[in-house]
Amino acid sequence: MPGRGQRHELGGVPVIVVENVQDYRDCVPYYVNKDDVCLELGCAQGCTTAVLAEHAKEVVGVDKSAFNFKVAEGRYTHIEFHEIAAEDISALLRLGKRFTKIFLDISGSQPVGPLAALIEKYERAFPDVSLFVVKAYRLKKLVGLSTVFPEEVLGTTRNPSTAFMIKAAGAGGGGGLHEVNGVSGGLGAGRSGRRGSGRRGGLGGALRGHVGAVAVALAAFGTGLVVGRASSRR
Ligand SMILES: C[S@@+](CC[C@H](N)C(=O)[O-])C[C@H]1O[C@@H](n2cnc3c(N)ncnc32)[C@H](O)[C@@H]1O
Repeated sequence: MPGRGQRHELGGVPVIVVENVQDYRDCVPYYVNKDDVCLELGCAQGCTTAVLAEHAKEVVGVDKSAFNFKVAEGRYTHIEFHEIAAEDISALLRLGKRFTKIFLDISGSQPVGPLAALIEKYERAFPDVSLFVVKAYRLKKLVGLSTVFPEEVLGTTRNPSTAFMIKAAGAGGGGGLHEVNGVSGGLGAGRSGRRGSGRRGGLGGALRGHVGAVAVALAAFGTGLVVGRASSRR
């Protein structure tokens, strides 16, 4: 039957998922450098945008709230702010910037579906983007609970990070490095080394349980989602 066994394009721009504003801001020095042109969507009154401005070559903050936009603009006169809704891709394109990293914080309790759709739109609209940082606890929860059915079992190896995870987990107790935009984070190897058990706590659980892991790389939603861990990352 057509469609059965269909394979999809699973590559894409990595996504760092965080659950609160402290972790969100901590991502800035970790992932942003002086080559970056950053966009912050949901910049509110510009506090994180100002942190981005310290680390990036250029930053633009946008928020749909006229009040917040005015406060941000008055407070940080050296930064470019706009009153734009995150969904308004045309208005974002009219900014005429080649954004390299996008920070998205349009309320941390956003449902996963619309967020995932937005991320895909940004990916298409801004081909220079190499990383998303998204504050969304529901997305973090879903990613943390997720793993993929092992490509090894499926007999396919389309997603390098998945293949790597399986290899690392199979090594039992060792560790590997997963590189995201030139930033290496420790990918926790599983304690159990179990593969393809189909049980919660299988590969994903083993990876999550690794003490000192900086990031767990998971392939989902057609993008590489990475759950950031605040501890032991420097
Ligand atoms: C939690 S605050 C952002 C805090 C800010 N990122 C910071 O680190 O200081 C969420 C902001 O998202 C804005 N917002 C919510 N939905 C939005 C949307 N669809 N487009 C643009 N901004 C939005 C709100 O106006 C609010 O200012």
